[in-house]
Amino acid sequence: MSSAEVAVQVFRKLESEDFRILHIIEAAMSKREFVPTGQIQKYAKLPMDRIEFTLGKLNKLGLIYQTKGAYVGHTLNYAGYDCLAINTLVKAGVIESFGQTLGVGKEADVYDALSPDGKRIAVKFHRLGRISFRQTRRKRGYIREHSTWLFQSHVAAEKEFQAMQLVYKNGVSVPEPISQNRHVIAMGMIEGAELSKYKEIPKPEKILKEILRNVRKTYLKAHVIHADLSEYNIILKPDGHILIIDWPQYVKTNHANAEDLLERDLKNILTFFNRKFTVKVVVKEACDYVIGKARSLAI
Ligand SMILES: Nc1ncnc2c1ncn2[C@@H]1O[C@H](COP(=O)(O)OP(=O)(O)OP(=O)(O)O)[C@@H](O)[C@H]1O
Ligand SMILES: [Mg+2]
Repeated sequence: MSSAEVAVQVFRKLESEDFRILHIIEAAMSKREFVPTGQIQKYAKLPMDRIEFTLGKLNKLGLIYQTKGAYVGHTLNYAGYDCLAINTLVKAGVIESFGQTLGVGKEADVYDALSPDGKRIAVKFHRLGRISFRQTRRKRGYIREHSTWLFQSHVAAEKEFQAMQLVYKNGVSVPEPISQNRHVIAMGMIEGAELSKYKEIPKPEKILKEILRNVRKTYLKAHVIHADLSEYNIILKPDGHILIIDWPQYVKTNHANAEDLLERDLKNILTFFNRKFTVKVVVKEACDYVIGKARSLAI
């Protein structure tokens, strides 16, 4: 079961005292990886037996991890961090309930959810360091520098949300950015599949043109470069239009490596279209079109 699956299932079983303890652990983790029981009690201002009961419950539910031995300390697992973010988004009126997983990958879990007014939304949980997390855990029985990964995932979500807001308001085809908390983003639900999944597509030239038109808009209007563009991060919708997803690694166009990153993005797309659909466009020409040196592009 993925952490998000754990979180979605146990979320409703949590009471305010459970959230309080999770919060305290989260706050104290900015200073140390494992938070001693005594420190939790100091902030919670609850009797020790209640604290221990709650810690036991959170541990059993897989939301926290506890060191064993002489020094007893507690740290949030991804599922615990997920619960804190879900709680905030539920209270903010963004999420009402969860549906099913849309995708579990290396760096993110994406879930289907409903907003209180019945709109279908997608909820993306960032998971940086999950691979090394598993390896470390197998080796040592606990997660070293785990708190750094939670923090990095938070930063990634913040960055991605910023980028989505910037490009969305400039008319680039992306899912609608709705809300963000900690490492989690709520966005408009989209239908379709990654371009990489299609064996054949109707009018590939038209689709490539639409992609490049969007990259140009991203560059010239939002002053942004995606920096991880490929057939895996472009969704082809059933109506034949595209959406660009997965923005946490974006850079601004004044970034020191902007030129190289844009060229790499374009190369990925052009190589894919050439290899799979024998549509040929020269990288230099696409680049000139995107940065506004050329007004149009012959495809
Ligand atoms: N708004 C959305 N609506 C529906 N499905 C989505 C949405 N956003 C993402 N997905 C699905 O989740 C997958 C992963 O999303 P994304 O590319 O943003 O994350 P990632 O960081 O690349 O994760 P991974 O490492 O799993 O590839 C997408 O390929 C898509 O299938
Ligand atoms: Mg992706």
